[in-house]
Amino acid sequence: MGSLFFVFILLICFTPSSALAGHNDINILSKLREAVTEGKGFLRDWFDSEKSPCSWSGITCVENTVVRIDLSSVPIYAPFPLCVGSFQSLAHLNFSGCGFFGELPDALGNLHSLEYLDLSHNQLTGALPVSLYGLKTLKEMVLDNNFFSGQLSPAIAQLKYLKKLSVSSNSISGAIPPELGSLQNLELLDLHMNALNGSIPAALGNLSRLLHLDASQNNIHGSIFPGITAMANLIIVDLSSNALAGPLPREIVQLQNAQSLILGYNGFNGSIPEEIGELKLLEELELPGCKLTGIPWTVGSLRSLRKLDISGNDFNTELPASIGKLGNLTLLYARSAGLTANIPRELGNCKKLVFVDLNGNSFSGPIPKELAGLEAIVTAALPEGRRVAVKRLHGGHQFQGDREFLAEMETIGKQSTRVFGYSLTSLSYGSVTSSLHSVHGRRRSRRPPATPPPLPSSFHRSPNPSILCCFAYDDEGVGIHQQGRCLGLAPLLV
Ligand SMILES: *[C@@H]1O[C@H](CO)[C@@H](O)[C@H](O)[C@H]1NC(C)=O
Ligand SMILES: *[C@@H]1O[C@H](CO)[C@@H](O)[C@H](O)[C@H]1NC(C)=O
Ligand SMILES: *[C@@H]1O[C@H](CO)[C@@H](O)[C@H](O)[C@H]1NC(C)=O
Ligand SMILES: *[C@@H]1O[C@H](CO)[C@@H](O)[C@H](O)[C@H]1NC(C)=O
Ligand SMILES: *[C@@H]1O[C@H](CO)[C@@H](O)[C@H](O)[C@H]1NC(C)=O
Repeated sequence: MGSLFFVFILLICFTPSSALAGHNDINILSKLREAVTEGKGFLRDWFDSEKSPCSWSGITCVENTVVRIDLSSVPIYAPFPLCVGSFQSLAHLNFSGCGFFGELPDALGNLHSLEYLDLSHNQLTGALPVSLYGLKTLKEMVLDNNFFSGQLSPAIAQLKYLKKLSVSSNSISGAIPPELGSLQNLELLDLHMNALNGSIPAALGNLSRLLHLDASQNNIHGSIFPGITAMANLIIVDLSSNALAGPLPREIVQLQNAQSLILGYNGFNGSIPEEIGELKLLEELELPGCKLTGIPWTVGSLRSLRKLDISGNDFNTELPASIGKLGNLTLLYARSAGLTANIPRELGNCKKLVFVDLNGNSFSGPIPKELAGLEAIVTAALPEGRRVAVKRLHGGHQFQGDREFLAEMETIGKQSTRVFGYSLTSLSYGSVTSSLHSVHGRRRSRRPPATPPPLPSSFHRSPNPSILCCFAYDDEGVGIHQQGRCLGLAPLLV
């Protein structure tokens, strides 16, 4: 009896622990197989008795110890498997898009080696178990697109190696815990589409490594200052569709690396601060649906800007002519923005513009003919419901482009009483064909549309041999075509 006991002690003490864990893990894998039987059709090798569990697809072992499970996109549709919490050495768990449902087991908190956890795109419910906040080695926690509810716990401060925290598209409520501010390694924080309220905690300013912040589509109140302005490395900031208010702080200039500032659909008021012009890397500035009242001249210094959206504000001022300095601007949305005075002709200098929407403002004076010189304008919505469609397509896509334009014109024709016809002229290797189509406008023309004017000689010198040229006509039947460019209605709206 005594010696037997001794042998037992020996066994316990001298069996390498990894071998014990390994033996154990093989058993747990069998349990996991039972739990995912629903996904049998997609996990064939799991049900092939010849195969050793460590070679099943999605399983990675080191000496019979499971270190990685990746069943992402395998449609399993079963309750979340409880036994997962028993893989002591698991570093990487990816159950993204498996259709797991139910609540997360507390036992997940036993995965003390876990570094990557991805449970996104499932149908998981309930609050995040408190034990989850004890996974101190976690680097990525991705829980997007589930039905998680409850609040984020201050205990989240324990996850100090976390680089990526993503819980978007859930029903998480309550305030953003200030303790998030202590996650010094955080690079991505995605909270969008939840039910978070309260204000942005000032402590978030301590997230000096944060590159991407998305807290859009929540119910966050208060000011964005000082919360975000200290995060000097931010590249993408999306706080749109919240209840943020007050002025946009001058300190926004501290976001020197910002490429996207997406702040629309909030209650911001006052003027856009002049300092914004110092954000030399800014490519997207989206401020629609706020209560902003001023646009500084300095927007013209945003030399990297590609998209500017200031629709739905109360500017009650003119569009600054400095906008003509935005050589990279491709999209300009300024619908119903309370803009007054003339449309600046300098806008014609923005040669990369492909979409302009200036509808619903209080512009006076003519539409500057410089706008017609925009090479690549695809569609533009101009004041008073006048629409312009202009397109210049380069070789190779002629047929496709023709069809696209046709569809576009049909749409415009339905929306607008002013445009009723268009003509496509294609120029291929010097031969010109032109055809006239009518668009189902609500109003008929008083006189037939003019034939497209002859192509200017500069066309024949075009370095690109295949150009599809499109004209739009209004109900006066006037089309326009000038200087080798495909022009829209602009000059005839003068
Ligand atoms: C999980 O798998 C998906 C799909 O393969 C992948 O896009 C995602 O990056 C993975 N998650 C982690 C944390 O590695
Ligand atoms: C924030 O949400 C929590 C949880 O839903 C709620 O109890 C609290 O009253 C809300 N606070 C505010 C200021 O709306
Ligand atoms: C943020 O940093 C300041 C000092 O820079 C410190 O006093 C404060 O406690 C920090 N907040 C958090 C939540 O870590
Ligand atoms: C902005 O709105 C706040 C209320 O949210 C108000 O107190 C303040 O006077 C407004 N500022 C401007 C410049 O309109
Ligand atoms: C376009 O953006 C690039 C990159 O920021 C910049 O270097 C360049 O000067 C801009 N071009 C114009 C015409 O402003």
